[in-house]
Amino acid sequence: MLIHGDEAARPDGAVTPPITQGTNWAAASGEEFLAMATEPLHPDFYNRAGNPNHEQASAVIAQLEGAERALLTATGMGAATTAALALVRAGDHVIGQRSMYAGVTSLLLNLLPRFGVECTEVDQTDVGAFEAALRPNTSLVLLESPSNPRLEVTDLAAVAELARRHGALTLADNTFATPINQRPLELGVDLVWHSATKYMGGHADLMAGVVAGPTEIVERIWNTTQVVGAVLAPFNAWLLLRGLRTLSLRVDRHNKNATALSEALEGHPAVSRVYYPGLASHPGHAVAARQMSGFGGVLAFELEAGHEAADAFISRLRYAKRAASLGNVGSLVVHPAAMWAHAMTPAQLESAGVSPGLVRFATGIEHPNDLVEDVIGALEGTG
Ligand SMILES: Cc1ncc(COP(=O)(O)O)c(C=O)c1O
Repeated sequence: MLIHGDEAARPDGAVTPPITQGTNWAAASGEEFLAMATEPLHPDFYNRAGNPNHEQASAVIAQLEGAERALLTATGMGAATTAALALVRAGDHVIGQRSMYAGVTSLLLNLLPRFGVECTEVDQTDVGAFEAALRPNTSLVLLESPSNPRLEVTDLAAVAELARRHGALTLADNTFATPINQRPLELGVDLVWHSATKYMGGHADLMAGVVAGPTEIVERIWNTTQVVGAVLAPFNAWLLLRGLRTLSLRVDRHNKNATALSEALEGHPAVSRVYYPGLASHPGHAVAARQMSGFGGVLAFELEAGHEAADAFISRLRYAKRAASLGNVGSLVVHPAAMWAHAMTPAQLESAGVSPGLVRFATGIEHPNDLVEDVIGALEGTG
């Protein structure tokens, strides 16, 4: 489906779909204009509503996630914020995980409360914490597994079942896992979203977001997109489709690389802890093994010698770039304690699980031997 899933939406005979850059399309009659203007996600009316390049890339993503429909947005945060604004109203209560992408934490704790929405954070490793947090007015539960930066695992099926019984919708960020490794909708989650900037695009050359799920809910979110306006440019949708063609090949290599690195680092005397859901030592391993078919390309580890050692280690790496983001063909590495020091106090960092020596390593698709040799060399100061 990565290669052929968009064929019904391709112009006849196009092996690779063209970029449709024009803003709008003409109607043959007043009736046709009205039909074009009112059909959700119409691909040939006006680019804020939809576009052929959106239709092609979203068709592939919907099939990958097992969703009826998918909607593309300008960035991952564009998808999350637009979905939340579409799905909740003043007086509602929203639950989010204590460990989530920082932008979503800000949506939960800063933005939604300004519109009269009550919000609660819970420890996502404890299904009972979600149950205890549910209130009669809970309308939405925000999930992310594995989560940033310590790869904590949420039991998606158990939380989805709880929320469903309670009448609340679940919206899961599947960016770290990708639909190659994990399909939340099959586990009972209502809606899935991605920073398609990451693995789906795959080459650190576009920003995009996507939300996928039942047609009726995706169309509600599309309605809000028409007000929020965080829509994807046609060229970025085209690049996204090009990235998607190789998603499965790349994710296989990312999975292999992160497994090889986490195994090489576990037990190394300079490393006190490795966080990777594929390791049997990871507290979420059993749940991850149940809900994932591969464990993803990101791992984190703690250097025993702390802050300066982590900084010096990153400086010694030959291949991985010290850069935000993940899911790129080349490895990317961050030192969360340094990256977030401007925004969080030491106490907040500690409660988010960010120790001074924590390193987050987002593997690329380099050869696993090269990556292991580089990382172990940099650790031992011989790289
Ligand atoms: C897990 C996760 N979700 C969402 C986002 C936000 O996506 P974007 O940067 O495309 O807005 C990010 C970005 O780093 C992320 O890592």
